[in-house]
Amino acid sequence: MIPNTFGIPATADRYEVLRTQQELVSLLRGGGLCDAPCLVVGSGSNIVFTGHYPGTVVHLENKGIRLLSESDGTLFVEAAAGEVWDDFVRHCIAQGWHGVENLVAIPGTVGASPVQNVGAYGSEAKDVIDSVLAYDIATGEPRTFTHAECRFGYRDSIFKGELKDRYIVWSVTYRLQRVFEPRVGYKALSDALASAGIANPTAQQLADTIAEIRWSKLPRPEQTGSAGSFFKNPVVPAAKYTELHACYPDIVAYPVAADSYKLAAGWLIEKAGWKGRTQGRCGVYEKQALVLVNRGGCTGQEVVALANAIVADVQAKFGVTLTPEAIIV
Ligand code: EPU
Repeated sequence: MIPNTFGIPATADRYEVLRTQQELVSLLRGGGLCDAPCLVVGSGSNIVFTGHYPGTVVHLENKGIRLLSESDGTLFVEAAAGEVWDDFVRHCIAQGWHGVENLVAIPGTVGASPVQNVGAYGSEAKDVIDSVLAYDIATGEPRTFTHAECRFGYRDSIFKGELKDRYIVWSVTYRLQRVFEPRVGYKALSDALASAGIANPTAQQLADTIAEIRWSKLPRPEQTGSAGSFFKNPVVPAAKYTELHACYPDIVAYPVAADSYKLAAGWLIEKAGWKGRTQGRCGVYEKQALVLVNRGGCTGQEVVALANAIVADVQAKFGVTLTPEAIIV
C-alpha cells in the first residue's frame, strides 16, 4: 500500500520503492519519470489521496546518518531522505548533536523536512538545514541547493513552489551544534517546563516535554488516521485582525510583521463550532480543531468535503480564507 498516515487505501499506475542512488539515477536517466505525473511520498504524513493516482508514486527508503565535519562546535550532519524524521531527531539527541530537539515526534521523513519546512514549538527545519541534495526528475542530474536557494517560508520551500515536481530530495545536510541551547520561548512549552519544575532542561528533557505536549493535543498516527495540521494558520492584515479582535477579544493571534498577524486556525475552526464534529467518516479532532481525522474507513473525498465545509463556514463567519497545509492529490 502507498504509505499515508490518514489511512486511505491509495493506488497508482506505478509504485517505485528506491533504496540506492543507482536505482534512483537509472529510473530518472532517459526521462523515465517524465511521461506521466510523479509524486514522491515519504511517510505520506501530509498527503490525502482522493482517488487512483494517474502516474508514478516514488517512495524513498534510502538510509544513513553521518557526521560530515565538525569545527568550532558546529557539526554538519547528512541524513538520507528515507530516514524516519523522529529517528533522526532521537539519534542526534543521543549523539549530543543539538538543534533539532523542538522538532521531536513530528511524523514524516527526513526528505520531507526541507520540502515542507516542518515546524513546531518555536523551531522550523530551516533553522538547521545547511543544504539539500536533490535529483532533477527530467535529467537525473544531482544538484545541491544551498539554504538560500531553498527559499524557505512557513511550511513552504522552492520544492513546493517554483520547482514543484521537478526534483527528488535525496539527502539533507543539517548544521547542528555541540553546545545545547534550549529554545523554550513557545508558551505551551515554557508553561509545561515550569509546572514540571525544570528550569534548565537537558536536551532529552526538552524533547520529552515537547513530545508529551504534542501527544496531548494530536492523535497518534498508529491509533487514528490524520495528516497532522490540515490547514495552515492564516496570515491577515493588521486591520483585519483589529476588526476581528473587536468582536472576539479571545482570538488567538501572533504578530508576524509590522502590518500582519498569524491567526490560530484551530481557534477559528473551534469558534465556528466544528471541533469534535463528524461528517461522513471524517471528523474534526476533539482536542485540536486544526486536525481532521479518519473515523474509520474514510475516503479522500470525505476529507475534502469536510475541509470545504469548514473553509466555507470560516470564510462566512470571520471573512478569513483557510488554506490546506496537507497536499490533496
Ligand atoms: N486553538 C484553539 N482551538 C483548537 C486548537 C488551537 O483555540 O482547537 C488555539 C489555542 O489557543 C492554542 C493556539 O490555537 O494556544 C495554537 O495552537 P497550538 O499551539 O496547538 O498550535 P497550532 O497553531 O494549532 C502549529 C503547527 C503544528 C505544531 C504546533 C506546535 C501549523 C499549521 N501547525 O499548530 O504543526 O505542532 O503549532 O508548534 O502551523 C503540523 O504541521 O502537522 C503540526 C502539527
